[in-house]
Amino acid sequence: MGKLQVMEHPLIQHKLTIIRDKNTGTKVFREVVNEIARLMAYEVSRDMPLQDVEIETPLVQSVQKELAGKKVAIIPILRAGLGMVDGMLDLIPAAKVGHVGMYRDHDTLEPVEYFVKLPSDINERLLLVVDPMLATGGSAIAAIDALKKRGATSIKFVCLVAAPEGVKALEEAHPDVDIFTASLDERLDSNGYILPGLGDAGDRLFGTL
Ligand code: PRP
Ligand code: URA
Repeated sequence: MGKLQVMEHPLIQHKLTIIRDKNTGTKVFREVVNEIARLMAYEVSRDMPLQDVEIETPLVQSVQKELAGKKVAIIPILRAGLGMVDGMLDLIPAAKVGHVGMYRDHDTLEPVEYFVKLPSDINERLLLVVDPMLATGGSAIAAIDALKKRGATSIKFVCLVAAPEGVKALEEAHPDVDIFTASLDERLDSNGYILPGLGDAGDRLFGTL
């Protein structure tokens, strides 16, 4: 079973409160989502493997460490996942970026795939799938299905706010995928919105309320 990690760092919790507040406008919302993504990238990359490398400092020959593992690709689930990409790239600037377009049908809450464009070597990369919201889990599950269908083998899912229902569904559908979230919220409401949540992440990021 993949592990669930709730990031309780004080900076993350403080910033999360800012984006939950309904009085926070688009500009600040966008900035703070990226700031949280940057902090999460630090934690998500914690177990990246290292290897020895011999270098010469200005004084001596020395064996030091460098990253050894798979290269990374960041995969935002459109639209809202786009809000986390720049923050993640700040820490992992050499990562490639692939896109999976997925929207939730308002009536059925079922995900509808409308776009997939990925780096050609996703089978050789660690994929960090990013989306601020994990609600029913339908979008994340379908996005990861789409990635696996195209050869992905190593995937982590990174969100800002998760509902217990979505975590359970994603763990059951993709037990090999670790889930990182800034908060595990209480529950979903009858419209599939996370409570207390932050509302519609895509609309708040792009000003389409
Ligand atoms: C939101 C969010 C997730 C999805 C989560 O996207 O960004 O992708 O809902 O819900 P789920 O876990 O129940 O599938 P939305 O469908 O609103 O599209 P958008 O990002 O284009 O606004
Ligand atoms: N998608 C969102 O953007 N917000 C929610 O609370 C649930 C799904």
